[in-house]
Amino acid sequence: MIVGLPKEIKDNEYRVGLTPAGVRALTDSGHQVLVERGAGDGSGFEDALYQRAGATTISSAAEVWAKADMIVKVKEPIGPEYPLMREGQLLFTYLHLAPDRELTKQLLERKVTGIAYETITDRNGSLPLLTPMSEVAGRMAIQVGAHYLEKMSGGRGILLGGVPGVPAARVVIIGGGGGGTNAAKIAVGMGAHVTIIDNNLDRLRELDDIFLSKISTLASSAYMIHDAISQADLIIGAVLVPGASAPKLVTRAMLKDVPNGAVIVDVAVDQGGCIETTHPTTHSNPTYYVEGVLHYCVANMPGAVPRTSTFALTNATLPFAVKLANKGFLKAIASDPHLKAGINTYAGHCTYEAVAVSQGLEYTPIDSLTKK
Ligand SMILES: NC(=O)c1ccc[n+]([C@@H]2O[C@H](COP(=O)([O-])OP(=O)(O)OC[C@H]3O[C@@H](n4cnc5c(N)ncnc54)[C@H](O)[C@@H]3O)[C@@H](O)[C@H]2O)c1
Repeated sequence: MIVGLPKEIKDNEYRVGLTPAGVRALTDSGHQVLVERGAGDGSGFEDALYQRAGATTISSAAEVWAKADMIVKVKEPIGPEYPLMREGQLLFTYLHLAPDRELTKQLLERKVTGIAYETITDRNGSLPLLTPMSEVAGRMAIQVGAHYLEKMSGGRGILLGGVPGVPAARVVIIGGGGGGTNAAKIAVGMGAHVTIIDNNLDRLRELDDIFLSKISTLASSAYMIHDAISQADLIIGAVLVPGASAPKLVTRAMLKDVPNGAVIVDVAVDQGGCIETTHPTTHSNPTYYVEGVLHYCVANMPGAVPRTSTFALTNATLPFAVKLANKGFLKAIASDPHLKAGINTYAGHCTYEAVAVSQGLEYTPIDSLTKK
């Protein structure tokens, strides 16, 4: 198979779809990998590293798209990339189609086989290609929060770990899943007082077993959230209700009781945020204040640490990319129901029910199109 690795062109996106090690895994299996020149620069992988891993580097994105049987990317294609997509081409990347009418239309009209990282499943029913980015964003939330708690950054001037004789910062994490747990690990490591709030009692039991007395756990309710954030220095929003917009668990009215200069990092902003006053921000303009509380709501936090994120992403995506290349699309999905769950578009049909429902399109199960 010819595998194409174009440079990401979305604003402030420095990740890349494959590390040189990922390329090596494909070339070792006999595939040809075409890398657009400079594709890895943002993640610190120069062209020579890809060449040494067996790739051919070419200067034109159009040529990569034109020659490749499978394109491996990070972000969904945007405007200039639409005309480059070809009928029957495999597109393996984050797609997030539900809210993106235009991209869905383009993929259907151009009959692209769109395999979305975010809908590939594992045997526990979770989404293994989302996990690494939640790990990155969760861990990053605390270092970002610690930074903005500094006076010069606009916060209330509190050191996360305190010092002997002075209490540590109070960190309240709402949502104790992948992102929230990773935030808790870093916050505990930095010596903060950590409270995790979740509505899943079994999850709270697990967290209690993992962290022992180093954290407090609270069952989620408006009353307990209000009470906890009233004394918080740093609030992390990490709630997810799969397939739905995040519930607004912290209201604007509650913020009146949060200390001035406290910091909110709403990691769940990509699902609308779990704080009523959240709106998406960017790395170039990441923060704003509401009721004296500093809000950081960057929707692509991992983009700030592209090298770590590219390694983490490739660790999770590569086995699927190799399987697709080695077996070909039809045999690969026939042998792997989790990979099959990633197919959102095929031969002009929408093959992912939630996307079809959210856009009022006809849903066609992939099996009805691929099985004779
Ligand atoms: N901003 C970014 O750059 C970025 C990066 C990665 C992930 N994310 C987002 O972070 C969010 C969290 O992802 P995750 O992987 O940690 O999800 P997850 O499913 O692992 O965890 C979500 C947790 O929220 C809990 N929850 C649901 N409803 C709740 C409620 N009413 N009260 C309290 N807890 C509740 C669930 O029980 C679960 O433990 C998602 O929206 C994800 O897309 C954002």
